[in-house]
Amino acid sequence: MRIAVFSTKPYDRRFLEQANQAHGHELVYLDPRLTAETAALAAGFRCVCAFVNDRLDREVLQLLQANGTELIALRSAGFNHVDLPEARRLGMTVVRVPAYSPHAVAEHAVALLLSLNRMTFRAYNRVREGNFSLDGLLGFDLCGKTVGVVGTGEIGLIFSRIMRGFGCKVLASDPFPKADAEALVQYVPLETLLADADIISLHCPLTPQTDHLIDAQAIARMKDGVVLINTGRGRVVDTKAVIDALKSGKIGRLGLDVYEEEEQLFFQDLSQGVISDDTFMRLTTFPNVLITGHQAFFTTEALTNIAETTLANISAFERGNGTLHRIAADHVV
Ligand code: NAI
Repeated sequence: MRIAVFSTKPYDRRFLEQANQAHGHELVYLDPRLTAETAALAAGFRCVCAFVNDRLDREVLQLLQANGTELIALRSAGFNHVDLPEARRLGMTVVRVPAYSPHAVAEHAVALLLSLNRMTFRAYNRVREGNFSLDGLLGFDLCGKTVGVVGTGEIGLIFSRIMRGFGCKVLASDPFPKADAEALVQYVPLETLLADADIISLHCPLTPQTDHLIDAQAIARMKDGVVLINTGRGRVVDTKAVIDALKSGKIGRLGLDVYEEEEQLFFQDLSQGVISDDTFMRLTTFPNVLITGHQAFFTTEALTNIAETTLANISAFERGNGTLHRIAADHVV
């Protein structure tokens, strides 16, 4: 099948080319992000392959469908950027990669936590400048601390298991608790988790229910000096409320791999220009904030699985004998 692959980077091409040896699709790589302005690039392509910051709202889906696209193949697990009811109305199929490496994301969340706790990113710069002072680098033992995990899916449970390995107690909140997770985590209402956790890590998807789940009210319930880690989706956190909480000291350390306005920033080199997002730039001024640009998924294993599953989804659609990993318009997360 001819596939228009949006938002492609050199590493996407490398892994897709490798996986495509087993499928033989015609992959046309497009650098730009998919938006209403770039949708015309996909004219005549039966399949559009998209990533997390591509826009698949009503307008874009209508443009794609009018130009012959039948299949949207996401190279991601998250699908909050797709207007699923509109895709169904237009008769388009949407497929995704449900779990390409939950370990990659869980391990990155742990990396953010460990770096923030011991301020290794600051220590690295100090030592290079011959500054061996320890002021400002004071951490705490993870052993014995209470960790709150919001969302006990694939990633949240692996994160929980790692934190148990450090000797932490793990509280969890999830509208669909997993019976087999109860030896690992203690399910509690979100309010209890917010009040009792020393460290909170977000692993829920972005849905209408989790949009700004962590707002000023939720933050007010947290312990003073709490560590907050978000590798889920940017909009789960109200960034302005978090900035206020950093200023007051309510949030002691913040680790982000996702940001609510990341579409305009992440996955590009903007170092030669002026970044006009003042909220993001304010975040970068805090010494106790560590931000990575949506790289939690970025491991060899994950990219291999993403490429293989994406192409297997497309091949199954092309064969017409059922689809793999199709997302229903009324998908419940
Ligand atoms: P999953 O679908 O296995 O698990 C999600 C869990 O969140 C489910 O158990 C669900 O019941 C729970 N949930 C839903 N609504 C909730 C709520 N209101 N409060 C608490 N829990 C809720 O998904 P998986 O694979 O664990 O991924 C989680 C999220 O991580 C994805 O939706 C995606 O947004 C994000 N992600 C981020 C990546 C990155 O590179 N930073 C890469 C991959 C995923």
